[in-house]
Amino acid sequence: MLILSNQIPGKQTQSKVEVYDQLARQLSSLLAGERDLIANAANFSSLMFHSLPDLNWAGFYFLKNDELVLGPFQGRPACVRITVGQGVCGTAAAKRVTTIVTNVHEFPGHIACDGASNSEIVIPLLKGEQLIGVLDLDSPIFGRFDEEDAAGLDRLVSVLIESCEWPRV
Ligand code: SME
Repeated sequence: MLILSNQIPGKQTQSKVEVYDQLARQLSSLLAGERDLIANAANFSSLMFHSLPDLNWAGFYFLKNDELVLGPFQGRPACVRITVGQGVCGTAAAKRVTTIVTNVHEFPGHIACDGASNSEIVIPLLKGEQLIGVLDLDSPIFGRFDEEDAAGLDRLVSVLIESCEWPRV
């Protein structure tokens, strides 16, 4: 059975490591037996949005013709195309490194899709050497994301990448 809430009544709040351990198990069972990229990315973003606290946006941009194009997400409608190198997503894609922004209003070129966003984390999706897109999470809380989130999300992204058939880009 898939449990989407990580808050168990009467139990102490879980550490981030425990939350991501649990999410990795939930994600593996959620994606088991399905190789469709859109379906799996949609369920991934729903699982993040409804399991991780203090998010206002969770979703994907996929690389198409050297541009990041909006994929499955949860949250308010977002900008559709992002040039590689622009904004937090484009910067993470260009550098191919996980990017944590504690205050998006201080990030040069930040693209404001939802005025509620105050911090952000972007994880590049890499299949071997090939960049296929990014995972983007936004929060209304300043400094919401840290290295434990980066490590946990990196692990979850690996599960997604291994679970899907990826189109050549
Ligand atoms: N803030 C991002 C744009 C995507 S939205 O947050 C969903 C950026 O600066 O790349």
